[in-house]
Amino acid sequence: MQRTRRSEGFAGSSKPFKTQGSARKRRRLRDRRKTEVTRTESVAGDGETLEIVAADYLGLPSVTRVAPRWRIEVVPRAPRPDVEDLERDWVATVAAPAFRLLRAERGDAACRRFLALGAGPGVDALAALELLGASEIGLTDLFEDVVAAAERNVRRNLRQGEQVVLHAGAGDLAEPLRGAGVVFDIVYENLPSLPLAASASLAAGRNAAAFFPPRPEPAPAFVANWLLTLHYLALVQSRAILAPDGAVVGAIGARMPLGALSDMAEAAGYSSRILTYGWKAQTDPQALLPVYAELHERGFGPFRFYPAGRLEEIFAGRDRAKLGRDATAIERALDADRLDAVAAWREFQRGMRIGHVVVVLHATVRA
Ligand SMILES: C[S@@+](CC[C@H](N)C(=O)[O-])C[C@H]1O[C@@H](n2cnc3c(N)ncnc32)[C@H](O)[C@@H]1O
Repeated sequence: MQRTRRSEGFAGSSKPFKTQGSARKRRRLRDRRKTEVTRTESVAGDGETLEIVAADYLGLPSVTRVAPRWRIEVVPRAPRPDVEDLERDWVATVAAPAFRLLRAERGDAACRRFLALGAGPGVDALAALELLGASEIGLTDLFEDVVAAAERNVRRNLRQGEQVVLHAGAGDLAEPLRGAGVVFDIVYENLPSLPLAASASLAAGRNAAAFFPPRPEPAPAFVANWLLTLHYLALVQSRAILAPDGAVVGAIGARMPLGALSDMAEAAGYSSRILTYGWKAQTDPQALLPVYAELHERGFGPFRFYPAGRLEEIFAGRDRAKLGRDATAIERALDADRLDAVAAWREFQRGMRIGHVVVVLHATVRA
């Protein structure tokens, strides 16, 4: 199903929530890079509403364009922000530092129109409002209910008096906004990488957050081997909705050699560079590591995982926003500790925490 909507959004009229807990408690939580989930409540169909302290979540002393406390409605098929452990949360840990760097590099005017491809609950769009200063926001995701909730989340969590132009559409990648007469300065994606099993349904549970079904479009064999198909197709489709100096910014769990990412961008007609480089603990390792191990045994990869403790050591004290240029040297330094997916799954079952490196790839259309 596809639909697009264009609308002017204003801050919701809901009153700010009462602060809970002492200032000391809030400082302690901020120090731990966690954000309070002060209340969750059910929404229709067993979804929930999270309350997120925006400054903690975005790593800022305070926020100016979004509400200090967000109410984020997470419908059952949308990915849930990992507010209990921000080190595992893509937006807090990966997108936020990348957005800060993008704005510093590009300046405000070139960050104004922002599209979240696969927006989930819309927290990446809220991060873009605050950190990029975006004022025109595009949201796409596969399902109507997910996109509608993302749109509500953006609207209700604007600071009173702030305005944003919203373009929202349900459907595949950039397709819902093609032909809507809009282009974007930044197209951001954090799309899934894993092929969906033939027996599984994309619409079931939160499958769409991690898996994608077989695609009819052609893609180079190395792209499929490294599970980059959806990232590649996002690049291909984004050409039609990118402003002339626009960039596609992909947050990718880089379980492959870094060269595969630049080769992917090149194959899609883009020049690319690593904007930020860091690491993340594997999301949902119990469910997803066996999938990587099975793919390895079927001849994909070999994927790259590491003991999380080693990643912690290597990246300690380094600012991921400054590591783009050091990425190849760090990749080499990590070489001796690399685990393939089968070894990573085995070590995880023996109690090891497993992580992988994360790249935010910055791609611009090749002249
Ligand atoms: C890993 S989640 C990231 C969500 C969001 N960007 C965030 O960080 O909170 C991936 C999102 O992409 C969406 N998605 C998966 N395949 C898609 C497709 N072909 N077109 C559009 N969205 C897709 C999923 O439904 C999910 O919301």
